[in-house]
Amino acid sequence: MSQEETRRGDGSLFNEDSIDGFLHRAFLRATGRSGEEVRQRPVIGICSSASELNPCNAGLSTVAESVKRGVLAAGGLPVVFPTISISEAFVRPTSMFLRNLMAMDVEQMITSSPVDAVVLLGGCDKTIPAQVMGALSAGKPALLIAAGPRPVARWNGEALTVDDFWPLAARRRRGELSDQDWNRLEGCLMGGVGTCNVMGTATTMATIAEVLGLALPGSTLLPATGSARQDAAVRTGTRAVALAEEGRPPAEVVTAEAIEDAFRVVCAIGGSTNAMVHLAAMAGRIGAPADAAHFRRWSETTPLLGDVRPSGPHLLEDLAEAGGIPAVVKELAPVLHLDRPSASGATWAEEVADVQPKTGAALRPFDQPVADGGALAVLTGSLAPDGAVIKRSAMDHRFLRHTGRALVFDGVTDLNARIDDPDLPVDADSVLVLRGVGPVGGPGMPEVGHVPIPAKLARAGVEDMVRISDGRMSGTADGAVALHVAPEAAVGGPLALVRDGDLIELDVDAGRLELLVPAEELERRKAEFTPPPAPLRGYELLYHRHVLQSPDGCDFDFLRKPLS
Ligand code: FES
Ligand code: MG
Repeated sequence: MSQEETRRGDGSLFNEDSIDGFLHRAFLRATGRSGEEVRQRPVIGICSSASELNPCNAGLSTVAESVKRGVLAAGGLPVVFPTISISEAFVRPTSMFLRNLMAMDVEQMITSSPVDAVVLLGGCDKTIPAQVMGALSAGKPALLIAAGPRPVARWNGEALTVDDFWPLAARRRRGELSDQDWNRLEGCLMGGVGTCNVMGTATTMATIAEVLGLALPGSTLLPATGSARQDAAVRTGTRAVALAEEGRPPAEVVTAEAIEDAFRVVCAIGGSTNAMVHLAAMAGRIGAPADAAHFRRWSETTPLLGDVRPSGPHLLEDLAEAGGIPAVVKELAPVLHLDRPSASGATWAEEVADVQPKTGAALRPFDQPVADGGALAVLTGSLAPDGAVIKRSAMDHRFLRHTGRALVFDGVTDLNARIDDPDLPVDADSVLVLRGVGPVGGPGMPEVGHVPIPAKLARAGVEDMVRISDGRMSGTADGAVALHVAPEAAVGGPLALVRDGDLIELDVDAGRLELLVPAEELERRKAEFTPPPAPLRGYELLYHRHVLQSPDGCDFDFLRKPLS
């Protein structure tokens, strides 16, 4: 068949009376579809990241079937196709290392295939940003439905969410949890398929997709395993057919204002620090401005309204009960752009007109926030000239202003070898520095920035310390942890020059992170810096050569929208 036709990537070729049309239909009918079925218009690609190697996304096979029903009911032709799926739990060296590869897979499958629109099925942390980045660059109409949060388990009569693992693991380290309890925990911690059941990265990214206008309003917090998610999937399929007919590319929906709104909602719900990296990458795909100064301004002028785990005590289902993301959007209306389109086709203003947020516990009203400033604080200074981020809502406020002596770990192997050494020269005021775990150094900014409290201090009851890293941390972790320090150590950023005993000053409210070492001394150390060796081949080499720093979202330089 003609390469030209295939490259056009247009679903109408299934309808043509030409030889090409005949052959395309014949191939599709090999899957058991009827002659009428393969002549349906438009063609909706269902881009699925369901995988048994990614338990968070495993429920998406069922969601795909529901989306298909919605597409068929609206007179479209649904075709499910797989892409790479990235599991936070299983992928090495890091899930972030693979995000851009998945984004390229998604983009190329959309552009190369005869589909008029796509429904993206994502869930686990990197899968949604990868799909959004790919779809933005591919340019065909796109919607997304997320896997949804997994069921909440029970532990000794209490709700057990994934973030409960950290304090339980600390108890195990202190010898307070028996082998039997530890085994029991392994069997019940995850509760079922679906994404982490707190406001971690996965739910944060699903929220972002909803606020951007890519996922149906109210769909984010529906449980992974409930009928309501399947209902939303059917509606998403139906809406995709209308969207294909409208022909509206995603970059018309995901505008600079949408990026701002998405980040403000993340701040308002105490979302994951990872959101900044992924939003910066998305912004880069459409040429929208989103640097440290923007994020700081948006964060400082957005109140924290959500009081859900891991920053607060309430469950995601409590936030859903309060009205979910549409209720957050309505409360936050004074600082958002509600004349933008939502995924339903209506504007956000129309969408939330009748929403009545049940404010109180899990969602506070705009004028009675949990905290005034944003949950995420952006830091800059001599230790992080291009920025760093700290989750203000989830740290011990004793450390909002803190100066302490550095104790430096070069990578995870060094950290693991020494952190629990009884002779480690550390006290509760020390500043633990973990470097060499940035985009290039990790590679892929592993979520290891949440350096554990040294065993001897943990046993003495120390629960939080200032920690600084060029890596990321899990959206479910907490603490006074300054992350994403840029430029990273592996490319010679100031973090590479820190030595044990140097004074480091953190001032969260002033947005500062300073290395208190004279400039001449830093110049001397810089002359001695040697970068780590480059990989020799393959994707690792491509990644090493092209990955950008965290303020540019760790995207590849050649994938961003060229400056025109
Ligand atoms: Fe997959 Fe948390 S590990 S969503
Ligand atoms: Mg995570």
